[in-house]
Amino acid sequence: MNLRHHLGSARAILAARFRGRHVPLSVTMAVAGRCNYRCAYCSLWTEPVPPLPTDELLGLIDGLARAGMQRIGFSQDEPLLRKDIGRIIDHCKQRGLYVTLGSNGALVTARLAEIRELDVLVLSLDGPREIHDRHREPGAYERVMDALAAARAAGLTVWITTVLTRFNLRHIPWLLETAARHEVRIAFQLLYHLDHEATSHPELLPDATDYQAALETVRRAQKRGAPVINSPAQIDFLKRWPDYGDPLCSNLTPDSLALRCWGGRLFLHLEPNGDVYPCSQLVGRPLNVRTHNLQAAMANAARQACPTCCLGGDYVEYNLLFGLHPGCLWNALRVTR
Ligand SMILES: C[S@@+](CC[C@H](N)C(=O)[O-])C[C@H]1O[C@@H](n2cnc3c(N)ncnc32)[C@H](O)[C@@H]1O
Ligand code: SF4
Ligand code: SF4
Repeated sequence: MNLRHHLGSARAILAARFRGRHVPLSVTMAVAGRCNYRCAYCSLWTEPVPPLPTDELLGLIDGLARAGMQRIGFSQDEPLLRKDIGRIIDHCKQRGLYVTLGSNGALVTARLAEIRELDVLVLSLDGPREIHDRHREPGAYERVMDALAAARAAGLTVWITTVLTRFNLRHIPWLLETAARHEVRIAFQLLYHLDHEATSHPELLPDATDYQAALETVRRAQKRGAPVINSPAQIDFLKRWPDYGDPLCSNLTPDSLALRCWGGRLFLHLEPNGDVYPCSQLVGRPLNVRTHNLQAAMANAARQACPTCCLGGDYVEYNLLFGLHPGCLWNALRVTR
């Protein structure tokens, strides 16, 4: 991120905190509406959604940029399935945005030339071959490792992201060594499921004590200089989660975990059809940007009532960051430098 992004972010945070404005500073977008994998813990492939056409999507990106967007992340499906993804990335870069893209890696090598302008390519890697392919599908490990090598050779900044399950907790050292060997950073996520799709994965979920011990392993490695992206505050927050089988804390009132949500105020998530949610946990009833203006859709998204944040994605990190947690601010500067 450059100075312009930092100044834009500071302006947006002040406007949201002191003037109650809704600024789409950080936006995640699902742009493909489908996926070429069927991962064990994911249900995003189950219901393909028709995506917005190119011109409409580029117009939407322009509107978001005018409203204060600094960072856009394409994820929550397989964005490389869109034939026009290179054009979309280039359009975002021409508007000075910080652009990331999350991928399973299958199409990275073939489409490397189109994604070379990305600020960060985020690749999912869950462990050595047998673990990764067990979570995903046979051959997935080979494809993502090829993608990692090809993207690094082409000079792209790559981050690895890992979903921790019962099967890969003992492979955390392997994951940290792999990240260090390829000179990339790594983020760890805990299992969540999307409530609206009513999927859960009891066979993948570790015991609470094993999850907490794994988070402690990550924290200790970070202290020793491992290239971990998660902030210490996020790791501590996740260690205190009351029930890892309840990723939205839906039936709990965990006072000790109270966290103000900035979804709809400073960040938002867009579904492939233009529905606007506070985050990719798809909380609340959305308004659609095709039928409502952005401010109205954001104000609606800001009206969710989560008792605390969710386990999914980076949202604990975002809410700590936009709540101006000093350690998270420092961490964000460190990892996006
Ligand atoms: C939904 S995927 C979209 C990007 C791309 N298709 C990929 O797999 O990286 C984004 C991230 O969410 C993670 N993910 C999917 N389902 C999850 C779940 N139930 N719990 C935790 N993380 C999950 C994936 O492993 C991936 O790192
Ligand atoms: S995790 Fe990514 S690759 Fe796997 S099914 Fe979900 S969207 Fe597709
Ligand atoms: S899950 Fe977290 S980010 Fe999403 S709406 Fe609830 S509090 Fe906000």
